Amino acid sequence: MSNNIVVAIDGYSSCGKSTLAKALAKKLHFIYVDSGAMYRAVALYFIRNNVDTKNHDQVAGALKNIHLNFHSRDYQTHITLNDEEVSAEIRQMPVSDKVSEVAAIKEVRKEMVRQQQRMGKSKNVVMDGRDIGTVVFPHAQLKLFMTADPKVRAERRYKELQSTNPDITLEDVFENLAHRDYADTTREESPLTRAEDAIVLDNTNLTPEQQLQLAVDLVKPFVDGR
Ligand code: DC
Repeated sequence: MSNNIVVAIDGYSSCGKSTLAKALAKKLHFIYVDSGAMYRAVALYFIRNNVDTKNHDQVAGALKNIHLNFHSRDYQTHITLNDEEVSAEIRQMPVSDKVSEVAAIKEVRKEMVRQQQRMGKSKNVVMDGRDIGTVVFPHAQLKLFMTADPKVRAERRYKELQSTNPDITLEDVFENLAHRDYADTTREESPLTRAEDAIVLDNTNLTPEQQLQLAVDLVKPFVDGR
């Protein structure tokens, strides 16, 4: 039986999930998987190829042609879509605006979950997303559910986007987040919800260092107990 450790980090968009997940993976020498990047890369493919999200045949055909790969360099996510590095492009607004629609498609989720489960099968991983503790790894040793004040979240994402997208406004970012929260929590397929056994981490007033320390303390018993 495999005795690898899985840390599942779920929560709303721009809550600092990936910052914490990366830092935790680095500290523990675990593999970090950004599951949102996978949905974003699929959304980018759909945009580029005008895939009609309502057309099941087109969606199924597209999924067969999508090959995703992660390359981790210093715990930064580098994702390739059919061998093309798309890590920067998947963070831009056209993808952010489309991704919730794509992530709500049953066939897309089925394929992403299959790939994610394979990645966490025999290795120690920290994976962040929306359904990691509920669907992908319901038996994860540690589940965290992250939240933060919506205004604080919008300001954080706005700062990140400003260098690559100087015309963007805080209102645009706030609206995009509100739209994604609504779509993520109300969709039929695996809506964002807290697993019963997940620990809630509201980081509105916590520094990244404080969050990391909390998470390290929570994982430590599993690491020590192996
Ligand atoms: O974490 P993020 O903002 O990069 O995620 C992008 C989108 O993908 C977001 O709208 C929710 C969706 N997503 C999902 O449905 N399930 C996951 N496990 C990860 C992301």
